[in-house]
Amino acid sequence: MFAELALYLLSAGHLAGHRNGRLEASVGLWSRGRRCRTAWAPHEAATKAAILQSVQRLQRRRSVAVLGSGVLRDVPLAELSAAFRSVVLVDVVHLLPARLAARRHGNVFCVTADLSGLTGLSEGHLDLVSPLAVLEAIDDLDLVVSVNLLSQLGLGMIRVVEAHPGADETEDLPAKVVGLHLAALRAVGRSVCLVTDTDCEVQNRSGMVVEQENLLRGHRLPAPADAWNWEVAPFGEEARDLRRVHRVEAHPFFSGW
Ligand SMILES: C[S@@+](CC[C@H](N)C(=O)[O-])C[C@H]1O[C@@H](n2cnc3c(N)ncnc32)[C@H](O)[C@@H]1O
Repeated sequence: MFAELALYLLSAGHLAGHRNGRLEASVGLWSRGRRCRTAWAPHEAATKAAILQSVQRLQRRRSVAVLGSGVLRDVPLAELSAAFRSVVLVDVVHLLPARLAARRHGNVFCVTADLSGLTGLSEGHLDLVSPLAVLEAIDDLDLVVSVNLLSQLGLGMIRVVEAHPGADETEDLPAKVVGLHLAALRAVGRSVCLVTDTDCEVQNRSGMVVEQENLLRGHRLPAPADAWNWEVAPFGEEARDLRRVHRVEAHPFFSGW
């Protein structure tokens, strides 16, 4: 608890992104990642492996942008720093440990940006800019990595809609934001690696599925190069007799290859 509070206070000064509870969410992610490190380890290793698979196939390695870099648990930062001239980490929140990790490498930079593209919301209408406009400012971009971010864009939009009753009357805003990210990745004109969770199951101790949800709001992806289960919340984390498991897909050559 003390560690979480200290991290919150130390990180808040840096952030444009502590609106909408995002700083709290990021501190929560950091904290859960530490508690669940054993359960998360296979997922983190598989994510890093998918990213490095993309890197290996590149002809040129000048700049790489990592979207949803977060607390850097699933980002092979040292390898990216060694392989590229510059590494740009993009997230709505960069906690202090991520900033310090970036600073340890001379060529890693943190860019704080909201990648949902949402700039405003009125009467169910979404004011959107291109969600990946931030990439236009990066010189010599050879690879874009979207790392366990996509489902969060939809979930974040659910929170926005909840805070604005009536806002979702005309369109499914979470689905729209997920679709916009996918379309923007396809249009980016660079090599793109996509790793994302796609589905969620809550299971009881007998292995029975008591709840399930598509995290991409119905959007379909091509056949993945790899897929695995990520035990996001082992038994005892969210409920004593339930665990939450996400299906994750890796698309190291998603577009632009
Ligand atoms: C599941 S975490 C990804 C894990 C991360 N790669 C790591 O290793 O810590 C999702 C990340 O997406 C970020 N995120 C969520 N909504 C976002 C948005 N609208 N714009 C930018 N980043 C966002 C969160 O801050 C979080 O770091």
